[in-house]
Amino acid sequence: MPMPLTFRTTAPILLGLSRTSSSYSLLLLNPKKNKPPILRAVPTSAPAAAAAVSNMVKAIRVYQHGGPEVLKWEDVEIGEPKEGEILVKNQAIGLNFIDVYFRKGVYKPPSLPYTPGMEAVGVVKAVGPGLTGRAVGDVVAYAGNPMGSYAEEQILPADNVVPVPSSVDPVVAASVMLKGMTAQYLLRRCFKVEPGHVVLIHAAAGGTGSLLCQWANALGATVIGTVSTKDKAAQAKEDGCHHVIICKDEDFVARVKEITSGSGVHVVYDSVGKDTFQGSLDCLRVRGYMVSFGQSSGLPEPVPLAAIGVKSLFLTRPTLMQYNATRDELLESAGELFANIAAGIIKFRINHKYPLSDAAQAHADLESRKTTGSVVLLP
Ligand SMILES: NC(=O)c1ccc[n+]([C@@H]2O[C@H](COP(=O)([O-])OP(=O)(O)OC[C@H]3O[C@@H](n4cnc5c(N)ncnc54)[C@H](OP(=O)(O)O)[C@@H]3O)[C@@H](O)[C@H]2O)c1
Repeated sequence: MPMPLTFRTTAPILLGLSRTSSSYSLLLLNPKKNKPPILRAVPTSAPAAAAAVSNMVKAIRVYQHGGPEVLKWEDVEIGEPKEGEILVKNQAIGLNFIDVYFRKGVYKPPSLPYTPGMEAVGVVKAVGPGLTGRAVGDVVAYAGNPMGSYAEEQILPADNVVPVPSSVDPVVAASVMLKGMTAQYLLRRCFKVEPGHVVLIHAAAGGTGSLLCQWANALGATVIGTVSTKDKAAQAKEDGCHHVIICKDEDFVARVKEITSGSGVHVVYDSVGKDTFQGSLDCLRVRGYMVSFGQSSGLPEPVPLAAIGVKSLFLTRPTLMQYNATRDELLESAGELFANIAAGIIKFRINHKYPLSDAAQAHADLESRKTTGSVVLLP
């Protein structure tokens, strides 16, 4: 018998989500009965035998670190899935700022040359020998390791993917998997946002920022967002920011003090890094949480202990991979995200689509702050 796939979620507000297809049926239980709601995905078709494939596909390859021009569109051989693996034909690929860090060499990729990308949704084309629980034709999503989603097809460990509910379009899923599961762990596990909290979110109109603002608002927080332009401010307002600060026009620390009548915020979600880090510390109230989860503007300077001791602050530098380290954590995170999309709590913004072959242009636009919401690459 194939093993059932299970999403478990601890979200406080979840609506039902159902699906029937040739391979899955999904069930969301009522969270009010003191049981965690379960989103269960049960394969109903027999797993296909491993296909003997010797597969040439188009993919982006990087031979040396540098600007967007180092992203090359090439033919690559990807072989066939081995034990525990699946071959996935990608339908949509999420672009993330982490792809820029790897391209530039800020983070080290596993090898050079490499195929970038850490998020995709696609259809299972073949399964490795003896694998149960996944079947050819399943629509699956992954976010995180292994790197290599900028490709028409890729081989993935079966344990790294989750089934995509039929109610969620594959392109939508690719736009929210990594960013949405990041929002989930940041707001629900890293610092647990509760009604009455005041939160500061930088890059509030970005891919991750947009989801963070909507979700923090739904959790009952007062949301303050920072952005760089008026257009981005309008989007951040729509996404649930109660106050939006346009950083180039206003001193965000002074505005946060004004908005909070001098007391400061409970938590800052800072993905900008170098340009905002010190200001973010200044915005926190006594015993506040500094969650530094990215560095779009560059790495922040080292932090002397005295800088956090002055207000008994908490400082953390979390990553999605470590918060989704186990399969249970992955399923909880994805399940809560999909349930909140189904409930209308999270609305996606796919503001930019590029052909995968044009990934260089997508990188250039993301880095130059021209994008808002999510960017997807289409093979
Ligand atoms: N630790 C984790 O687990 C994790 C997971 C996902 C993402 N992240 C981080 O979250 C951040 C956002 O990722 P994303 O993919 O959603 O990107 P994004 O927010 O859509 O794009 C980055 C945004 O950062 C702002 N920014 C400020 N200074 C910048 C600069 N010097 N250069 C470029 N952008 C600048 C820009 O917004 P404004 O123009 O409005 O300032 C820009 O639109 C990244 O730092 C990423 O590494 C971390």
